[in-house]
Amino acid sequence: MQIINFKIMLNEINILNEEIKNKISNVKDLNSLEEIRLEYFVKKGKIQSLVDKLKDVPKDQKPVIGKELNIFKSNAERIFNELREKLQNQAEENTDLDLTLPGRRNFRGSSHPVMQTMNEMIDIFGSMGFAVAEGPDIEDGWHNFDALNFPPDHPARDMQDTFFVKSDKEYVLRTHTSPVQIRVMQSSELPIRAIMPGRVYRNEAISARSLAEFYQIEGLYIDKNVSLAELKSTLMTFAKRMYGENSKFRFRPSFFPFTEPSAELDISCYICGGKGCRICKNTGWLEIAGCGMVHPNVLKSGGIDPEIYSGYAFGFGIERVTMLRTGISDIRYLYENDLRVLNQL
Ligand code: DAH
Repeated sequence: MQIINFKIMLNEINILNEEIKNKISNVKDLNSLEEIRLEYFVKKGKIQSLVDKLKDVPKDQKPVIGKELNIFKSNAERIFNELREKLQNQAEENTDLDLTLPGRRNFRGSSHPVMQTMNEMIDIFGSMGFAVAEGPDIEDGWHNFDALNFPPDHPARDMQDTFFVKSDKEYVLRTHTSPVQIRVMQSSELPIRAIMPGRVYRNEAISARSLAEFYQIEGLYIDKNVSLAELKSTLMTFAKRMYGENSKFRFRPSFFPFTEPSAELDISCYICGGKGCRICKNTGWLEIAGCGMVHPNVLKSGGIDPEIYSGYAFGFGIERVTMLRTGISDIRYLYENDLRVLNQL
């Protein structure tokens, strides 16, 4: 075994110490510092090979040399780490960061005003005992028209109002949510108390008041001895909760093939307060729902005996309800996806 004496070892420590100090003092960037790390500070680096020589030192000299080695090693590591920290800080300062720029805002999504209205309507009717049901957007002509007592020559069946899926006119994009009434009657036990939200489609010119694709909520209540008075009180309770105790409403006689008698529910115009303006076509009132007592033929289509049962139905346009809540005067604002508008609603 090769014996290394005290002097040689101390000398080697000194040489390596000087060498490292020298190199480190010339380092200008992190890359050259990394080269020094690989040369001296890794497991197979020069510092460790010097430390390994301790095993060849005579036993009685080991404590002294060991101590010298330790001092040398921790000193070298300290100088190295200090320089590394300094260079890292410099590197950070030298980037092109503009710390005066304002931070990036986190955009939070939220549900669309029309969906908010729909959910609120579902909540209010839900608290009055109405369950939610749904039907298909692509509907057969029977559910959309015949079962609802539309005569064969009704103008709504015309190409001008309805999107037909194929030219044979068997399937349509449903023009209202009323066909879901039939589906619910066919599949539910009596009594029925349900609301049916969904998208509907009409081949109509788009304007400030109407779209070709919009949302409705249908309502249906069927039991023995259901009266028109119950329909009125249900809709009034809903309307007051939706629009506040002070809003004014009126029922106006109307016509729908699937109800008899039929009515429309109007609310006093939110733009002019009832004086008459462009939006309410100078009447002071805006229509918010159609309603009526379910026609006996419709009950029959749904497999229900009109001699025993009666019922009421209603249908709201959800965009219309949203316009009234938010005070916007053009329905198209809702779907232009302009966040400057939507954020205000
Ligand atoms: N389906 C009608 C429409 O789209 C709205 C409606 C009117 C629904 C009267 C009803 C109702 O349930 O009873 O214009």
